[in-house]
Amino acid sequence: MELKFAVLVLTLLYCGLVNAQIYDVLKFGAKGDGTTDDSKAFVEAWKSMCSSGGENKTLLIPSENTFLLQPLVFQGPCKSSSVQVQFDGKIVAPINKAAWSDSEKQVWVGFNGLIGLTVTGSGMIDGRGSSFWEPGLSTSERPTQLQFQGCSNLQIIGITSVNSPKNHISISNCKNVDITKIELVAPDLSPNTDGVNIADSSNVNIFDTKIGTGDDCVAINSGSKDINITMMICGPGHGIRHIFILYKLMQLYNVGSLGKDGEESEVENVLVTDCIFNKTDNGARIKTWPNGKGYARNIVFKGIELIETKNPIIINQNYIDKGRLGVEKSAVAISNVTFTDVFGTSRIDEILKIDCSKVTYCKDIVLEHIDISTIDGTKPIVECSNVYGKSNNASQIDGCFMQK
Ligand SMILES: *[C@@H]1O[C@H](CO)[C@@H](O)[C@H](O)[C@H]1NC(C)=O
Ligand SMILES: *[C@@H]1O[C@H](CO)[C@@H](O)[C@H](O)[C@H]1NC(C)=O
Ligand SMILES: *[C@@H]1O[C@H](CO)[C@@H](O)[C@H](O)[C@H]1NC(C)=O
Ligand SMILES: *[C@@H]1O[C@H](CO)[C@@H](O)[C@H](O)[C@H]1NC(C)=O
Ligand SMILES: *[C@@H]1O[C@H](CO)[C@@H](O)[C@H](O)[C@H]1NC(C)=O
Repeated sequence: MELKFAVLVLTLLYCGLVNAQIYDVLKFGAKGDGTTDDSKAFVEAWKSMCSSGGENKTLLIPSENTFLLQPLVFQGPCKSSSVQVQFDGKIVAPINKAAWSDSEKQVWVGFNGLIGLTVTGSGMIDGRGSSFWEPGLSTSERPTQLQFQGCSNLQIIGITSVNSPKNHISISNCKNVDITKIELVAPDLSPNTDGVNIADSSNVNIFDTKIGTGDDCVAINSGSKDINITMMICGPGHGIRHIFILYKLMQLYNVGSLGKDGEESEVENVLVTDCIFNKTDNGARIKTWPNGKGYARNIVFKGIELIETKNPIIINQNYIDKGRLGVEKSAVAISNVTFTDVFGTSRIDEILKIDCSKVTYCKDIVLEHIDISTIDGTKPIVECSNVYGKSNNASQIDGCFMQK
């Protein structure tokens, strides 16, 4: 009898200890009915988890429930060296802009200053962003869906993000980031709904993902290095594409908008491998503003399949937004960029355009195994200016380079 009692006590104690690792938002007062504001319960559960020591602390967002959240921040650092968000349910934003507690916020859900955070599960986050897509609004009036700022050893696995007011995921000032098996979806004509924006971050791996939004799938901005993107399907998940609405449809890998307004920009060591660009506006692309400073270098696009892509290979150093143009005095230097094994179909004749600055030129551009045909069977054309480099088994590209 006494022994049985002791076993029972021990078992209860054990379960209690194990359960103490899990912080279920429902236990902190979340309703999960999709209409009640659950922000407070999420923040309480987070605080409770974050302030307790020990390993493998888990905030649980259970499946079967839909949680409505107003803009909030999960602040770190936490006491535990590894915290996890088990994200299985659904999170929704307020129904429209007017219902936001503060629609001036730049971020809807933020994670700040965390070390060893893992966000994983089969959950979905829906920003219900359509009221932010209205034409009158500027980029800065549209909030980011999920922002990770100042995080290291971060993993984002399995989740789905839809209908973000602006970009889906922003990675800024982070290092050692793994993003795996996620899906990001927004309609073709939703402005600024980039998939993943990376800035001031290093060692970012994006692996096995599906991104179809109204803007760039991945945008790599200033201060980023050691970026590895593998097996991404970039392009439509749904929707009907009309040729006449191509403007701002589906832009692609976009190393840049570098060097805006004379600012210094640095991006290096970017590897994009085994990716599919499906009916996108751009394929492998680097764009920089005139009169910027800094560099974009050591960039490889390898094993790229194009399905009816509009601008398969494009480097544009003379990127002008809304007609701004001055006398060109400097440029972000582009060098050591390789496009290899790029194949498939282009929606326009111009399969390659490398338009470089006459101040810096593009240097060490390598084009090899390029095999792109046009969908209407017309002869592909290439346009190059101020480019130094070489080609290999890419007869379509012959004549692109300047002679030294
Ligand atoms: C924490 O999780 C990791 C990975 O799942 C596991 O290897 C480790 O044993 C766990 N630690 C504790 C204390 O449960
Ligand atoms: C890039 O990521 C892929 C897939 O995760 C991996 O196999 C490869 O080794 C990585 N490359 C580098 C240079 O980190
Ligand atoms: C490309 O997009 C179309 C929809 O426009 C889809 O039917 C097709 O499966 C996609 N292909 C790939 C390889 O994802
Ligand atoms: C060019 O870039 C590749 C890929 O990032 C890198 O391995 C190589 O060292 C670079 N070459 C030079 C000369 O920097
Ligand atoms: C040249 O490229 C074509 C098309 O990508 C490929 O079929 C062929 O095997 C390549 N030749 C060599 C020598 O690599």
